[in-house]
Amino acid sequence: MAFLLLSAYLLLTPAQAAPVENGTLVVETLTSQALLGNKSEHYLAQVRPPGTSRQIPQTIIIGVRKGGTRALLEMLDVHPNIVVAATEVHFFDWEENYVKGIDWYRSLMPLSYENQITIEKTPGYFTSPQAPERIHDMNSSIKLLLILRDPTERVISDYTQVYYNRLENHKPVQPFEDVVIKNGVLNTKYKAIQRSLYDVHMGRWLKYFHLDQIHIVDGNTLIRDPLPELQKVERFLNLPSKILSSNFYFNQTKGFYCIRSDGRERCLHESKGRPHPVVNSTVLEQLYSYFREHNERFYRMINHSFDWH
Ligand SMILES: *[C@@H]1O[C@H](CO)[C@@H](O)[C@H](O)[C@H]1NC(C)=O
Ligand SMILES: *[C@@H]1O[C@H](CO)[C@@H](O)[C@H](O)[C@H]1NC(C)=O
Ligand SMILES: *[C@@H]1O[C@H](CO)[C@@H](O)[C@H](O)[C@H]1NC(C)=O
Ligand SMILES: *[C@@H]1O[C@H](CO)[C@@H](O)[C@H](O)[C@H]1NC(C)=O
Ligand SMILES: *[C@@H]1O[C@H](CO)[C@@H](O)[C@H](O)[C@H]1NC(C)=O
Ligand SMILES: *[C@@H]1O[C@H](CO)[C@@H](O)[C@H](O)[C@H]1NC(C)=O
Repeated sequence: MAFLLLSAYLLLTPAQAAPVENGTLVVETLTSQALLGNKSEHYLAQVRPPGTSRQIPQTIIIGVRKGGTRALLEMLDVHPNIVVAATEVHFFDWEENYVKGIDWYRSLMPLSYENQITIEKTPGYFTSPQAPERIHDMNSSIKLLLILRDPTERVISDYTQVYYNRLENHKPVQPFEDVVIKNGVLNTKYKAIQRSLYDVHMGRWLKYFHLDQIHIVDGNTLIRDPLPELQKVERFLNLPSKILSSNFYFNQTKGFYCIRSDGRERCLHESKGRPHPVVNSTVLEQLYSYFREHNERFYRMINHSFDWH
């Protein structure tokens, strides 16, 4: 299969472990000082500084899978008033986690000072039938972030991720066209296509939240020119404008932005920004036309349009 670099999504190696709490002293098993709001240095063990505690998130990045959620989270982490959860928590979408309760959820959050807000991201929330009501039960006035990109591009990116995972696990792979087209027609049951029906998923969120509680980040813009999108998020979260253009630099080799903060430079994990397959143009058109109606409906729902196909 021929490959073409269609788009690049920034991402960093996800941190591995969750913090462990013991009585009033907290022993950090994580290796990132980001937990403490001091992002300058790695360390192995640390005692909880006075004035810090773990908070349930005041903001959640709810999706969408392959939309650029990790890039968004890592870029927001540059802000001194933001702390981020190291891993995808899957609290509201996985039963086995949800039954562990809110204190378990809180224990996975980083330490924060009172002037900091805690953010976690789990892209699976956006398409989860249970997540909207459960998040509403936790905090009905929460602010949600949703990062989206062209739904057809998202399907291809979703497919590409699964394709590489299967290759790595020595499982058989099928060309994109064979997955997406069955008996000559678009296979609309394909999970990746279902996940790109933004109107369907958004409808469920709007049953529980006001539109002004959900800020939509344009994932296509974020990778091309991060700062303006991040400044909109700062305004949405009522945070002082602290993210600067100097926090990002373009890496020619990678073809996308890396992050510079507190004297450290971070680029994305190797698995991000993988080349996408070149897709048969007839199949592409079928996808575009399938999503067109859904996109129009979505634009009306959110009172905003995007330049998707
Ligand atoms: C918690 O701290 C106590 C006292 O320092 C220690 O005896 C105990 O082993 C610790 N428990 C864990 C799970 O680390
Ligand atoms: C962050 O940690 C480093 C090394 O431990 C220390 O020198 C620096 O002062 C800390 N910065 C802040 C803002 O606490
Ligand atoms: C609920 O979310 C809002 C908006 O982020 C925040 O101001 C408020 O503190 C949150 N409440 C709780 C209990 O976390
Ligand atoms: C740019 O990306 C390349 C390829 O991933 C990497 O080897 C290099 O370290 C990066 N350079 C900078 C300055 O981040
Ligand atoms: C694309 O697929 C269609 C069948 O769906 C086929 O007829 C056509 O030849 C293909 N086009 C290219 C350029 O391979
Ligand atoms: C829709 O957006 C326009 C401007 O973009 C604004 O004037 C209008 O009030 C919005 N309508 C609703 C229902 O939010």
